[in-house]
Amino acid sequence: MIFEQLFDTKSSTYTYIVSSGKSREALIIDPVIENTDKYLKVLKNLDLKLVKVIDTHIHADHISGLNELSKRTKCSKIMGEHSSSEVIDIHVKDNEKIKIENIELISIYTPGHTDCSYSFLMKDRVFTGDTLLINGIGRTDFQSGNSYDAYDSLFNKLLKLPEKTLVYPAHDYNGKKNSTIENEKKTNPKLRVSSAEEFTEMMNNINLEYPKMMDIAVPANIKGFTLDQVN
Ligand SMILES: [Fe+2]
Repeated sequence: MIFEQLFDTKSSTYTYIVSSGKSREALIIDPVIENTDKYLKVLKNLDLKLVKVIDTHIHADHISGLNELSKRTKCSKIMGEHSSSEVIDIHVKDNEKIKIENIELISIYTPGHTDCSYSFLMKDRVFTGDTLLINGIGRTDFQSGNSYDAYDSLFNKLLKLPEKTLVYPAHDYNGKKNSTIENEKKTNPKLRVSSAEEFTEMMNNINLEYPKMMDIAVPANIKGFTLDQVN
């Protein structure tokens, strides 16, 4: 399998390029628009053809490269069915299969950070978007976020995956590249709660700053901006 984890320093976003390696089809998850050329270069160097692009949710901290990549490669644009993006080709529901040659991802609806957040399970690993981060979780106070939904997504869905499952989030701010479900259960301070009520109380008292890019990124991601619309 070919598995590339690329990092955007400005937004601390992780982008993933996946291919079976046996075939030449590739899939990309959570691309950042400014890095489009970089992704295309990696794909070219690996002799891969991009066929699908997925955003785990409508991002508020960067403009997605989803539509630009699709414009340049004709790949299909995929998001969950609750996405408000106006440029999506394939909307997936919970527990649907997304296939490229020799690779299969299963969608898991994990709302809470946003109401459109999905995670994607691929054999031994799960792409968790901002639902589950390494040693943290995504905030729930914007974009139709809901802490009760986040609790359910975390405790009743993601943490129920096999303990050895590798966790690959959409961001990390501390230089960590991945984790495991087991490790997050043991060490993630946001998961040390005993009920949805306790979790909600914790989330209500987090006091984070207003997201700097939100008023630019969210409308751009709903419209599906391409590079010519970004200054
Ligand atoms: Fe997010």
